[in-house]
Amino acid sequence: VLPEQLDEQMIHDVVHGFYDEIRKDALLGPVFNSAIARHDWPQHLTKMCDFWSSLMLRSGRYDGRPLPPHLALPGLGEQHFRQWLGLFRATVQKLCPPEIAALFMERALRIAHSFRLALAYNRGE
Ligand code: HEM
Repeated sequence: VLPEQLDEQMIHDVVHGFYDEIRKDALLGPVFNSAIARHDWPQHLTKMCDFWSSLMLRSGRYDGRPLPPHLALPGLGEQHFRQWLGLFRATVQKLCPPEIAALFMERALRIAHSFRLALAYNRGE
């Protein structure tokens, strides 16, 4: 059963809070800001709210394929994943009760791991 404080508002706050930090980050900011034009950010944030809402609340709002855009990012590596996960952890710890923060992290870690495997496979490692 889902904790009852976990709702669309909390997902919205996590997504917006996270990408505010991402865009200021010295390592990740340039990666995101060169892939996503300034005027496309609102659309990206809406998509990411849909993605997390589908994962966490089973809302079914996201039916995209998350992997391909990551395979297309040049030089995506371990340090990017570590930084991404560190910022995500800081965001959910700040904005959510501990059990909800743990649920977000569980999902994020699982997907990050599948992306790492797919990237390595794609590069023939
Ligand atoms: C999209 C970067 C990790 C989920 C994107 C985009 C960028 C990006 C630049 C936009 C691509 C585009 O529209 O051209 C990164 C970097 C990561 C990372 C640098 C860390 C190494 C993750 C993780 C998740 C995730 C761990 C999931 C928990 C998504 C999703 C999209 C996306 C769902 C939208 C895909 C779609 O267009 O449907 N990411 N990402 N990303 N990312 Fe990541």
